[in-house]
Amino acid sequence: MIRDLINKLFGKNVQPAMTAQQRDTHKENNTMTNYTIFGTGNMATAIAGVLTNGGATVTLISREDSATAPLDGDVVVFAVPYPAVEEILANRSAELSGKTVIDITNPLNFDTFDELVVPVGSSAAAEIQAKLPDSSVLKAFNTTFAATLSTGKVGDLTTTVLVAGDDEAAKAALVEDVTAGGLDALDAGSLKRAHELEAVGFLQLTLAGAEKIGWTGGFGLVK
Ligand SMILES: NC(=O)c1ccc[n+]([C@@H]2O[C@H](COP(=O)([O-])OP(=O)(O)OC[C@H]3O[C@@H](n4cnc5c(N)ncnc54)[C@H](OP(=O)(O)O)[C@@H]3O)[C@@H](O)[C@H]2O)c1
Repeated sequence: MIRDLINKLFGKNVQPAMTAQQRDTHKENNTMTNYTIFGTGNMATAIAGVLTNGGATVTLISREDSATAPLDGDVVVFAVPYPAVEEILANRSAELSGKTVIDITNPLNFDTFDELVVPVGSSAAAEIQAKLPDSSVLKAFNTTFAATLSTGKVGDLTTTVLVAGDDEAAKAALVEDVTAGGLDALDAGSLKRAHELEAVGFLQLTLAGAEKIGWTGGFGLVK
């Protein structure tokens, strides 16, 4: 009964990184997955590495091109600071209609390092979804430091990307692309769970900022 409840809450179990053979098959079948990433920094580069490893096509958009670069991807990733998302939305909202939008931000108050800037009980992802009612917003990658995406490891564990969102098909597609890229991925539930994912990301950041853990470490998931 508890297992039924867990399955109901979390949907699929953790999807482990694909085997080499599964990855080759995925690459052959994955010609349609096309990602556009806002940002060219640590996370944009690391996420692009994972996705291209899995056979996806990825284009990065630099800050200077962020108002004008074509949004060719079916999936658009915001790999920029949370305040920058607002600027991008001011220019590009209409073009995001019908697309999957992945929010990876940790919306910290970087002046105090002591609170999130989103309304209590909400999340950056929920705020973005409210501004993009015709897009499918997913929360992902915010609980994994860039280094652990690049190496594929948190300590001895395979890095697990946690994904939350209300669009089951969009979530499943991201989980598949991440596992094809060599990482584990977990459907963490509905977009409401972005609140908890942002709390985890916030805590992990404060631990690293205080040098209690390294930027190559962080939370891992044992199945
Ligand atoms: N680093 C991590 O381990 C980590 C982990 C989880 C989540 N995150 C989240 O991931 C996001 C990106 O972090 P990051 O570490 O990749 O940062 P980063 O290395 O500093 O890269 C940020 C990127 O955003 C661009 N940018 C900044 N302001 C912009 C604006 N107004 N319009 C368009 N583009 C803008 C930057 O352009 P310029 O280079 O020209 O400034 C840069 O390409 C943040 O929201 C962060 O909270 C980071």
